[in-house]
Amino acid sequence: MNPAVRSADVASLVGAANDAMGRAYAPYSGFRVGAALATNDGRIFVGCNVENSSYPAGICAERGAVASAVAHGERSFAMIVVATEAERPTPPCGICRQVLVEFAPALEIVSVTAGGATARWNLRELLPEPFTPDSLAHA
Ligand code: THU
Repeated sequence: MNPAVRSADVASLVGAANDAMGRAYAPYSGFRVGAALATNDGRIFVGCNVENSSYPAGICAERGAVASAVAHGERSFAMIVVATEAERPTPPCGICRQVLVEFAPALEIVSVTAGGATARWNLRELLPEPFTPDSLAHA
């Protein structure tokens, strides 16, 4: 666990992720997702899934949060909280794991459900042997 993220901060991230989930645009899957990404200097950026009638054009909540943070000049992340209404906590999808590892190889990931279930992982567990900027350097 990243000691920089206090439990009070996790609670506010959970709130932000749930709020973002409420703004999800998921008319095709009906699977609403919110994400709240904490920077190492204490800022929070949120994302929600935004689907599209051209299905592959949709984007996940986690990547929306990363895009927002980077656009605001932040690239140093401590934790992401993912919120869904699923029965069990869901981890970020494979594409999102790859996007997250670019900036935060040891990111703490918390997943919460509307029913109150919680899971926690480190990105190192979810994406072992990642392809990173360092991989390109040794091409
Ligand atoms: N989704 C996310 O937003 N994050 C994930 O990690 C998994 C999936 C979205 C994509 C799509 O809009 C819906 O959930 C169903 O896959």
